[in-house]
Amino acid sequence: MTDLSSLEFEPNVWYETIVTTYNDDHRPNAAAMGCITFNQQHLVLRPFKNTATYSNIMRRRRAAVNITHDPELFYRAVFKKEMLFTAGEFADVPVLKECDAAIEVIIDDVKSFDEQRAEIVMSPTHIHKYATRIHPYSRVESALIESLIHYTRVAVFLHTERHGEALNLIEKIRENIQLVRRLSKKPMHLQICEEIINSVKQSVKNP
Ligand SMILES: Cc1cc2nc3c(=O)[nH]c(=O)nc-3n(C[C@H](O)[C@H](O)[C@H](O)COP(=O)(O)O)c2cc1C
Repeated sequence: MTDLSSLEFEPNVWYETIVTTYNDDHRPNAAAMGCITFNQQHLVLRPFKNTATYSNIMRRRRAAVNITHDPELFYRAVFKKEMLFTAGEFADVPVLKECDAAIEVIIDDVKSFDEQRAEIVMSPTHIHKYATRIHPYSRVESALIESLIHYTRVAVFLHTERHGEALNLIEKIRENIQLVRRLSKKPMHLQICEEIINSVKQSVKNP
């Protein structure tokens, strides 16, 4: 089964995943990587060309995209700590044992995205589901929640002696909303941003 919709992998939203590949000595490698689908059939990565993941994918044309919400797994991938792997079922790829789900993929197309990054288009060949509900991690969710929390404090502080704190919060809202708009084109996400921005502007205007 390779239907991405069963993983709540929504189109046009970047998710943070852990991509696993084999190094040239066949040792497994895990790296945190953003991943997106535009059509729910293909997955897209934009790895920097100087990463081991990019070299491994170029050499073997295979990878696994592992889905987790666990910051410890991202930490272990970033700091190259020990991780538990199992072998893929359909492709010769390492799969993370402790994730919620893993998608084995084969590479369809690689092109240059910019000077430093490639864009890799991949087709799922098999999905492993380890958790009952699988919800890939997106920075969009945390950025929206942060914006909403800050928004509720802005109105309280703005026209008081805590005005300075309100301005700091508005700056944080601006950064978070910029992030959401960069990582998601989902209409509901963009609508939430719009409403927060408009409401902040309104609060600034009307004491
Ligand atoms: C949440 C998260 C997302 C990341 N996304 C990407 C990405 O999309 N592309 C990329 O090249 N690096 C990304 N990185 C940085 C890589 O994980 C980092 O460069 C890593 O050292 C690459 O490992 P590798 O050389 O073993 O492939 C991300 C890091 C984190 C923590």
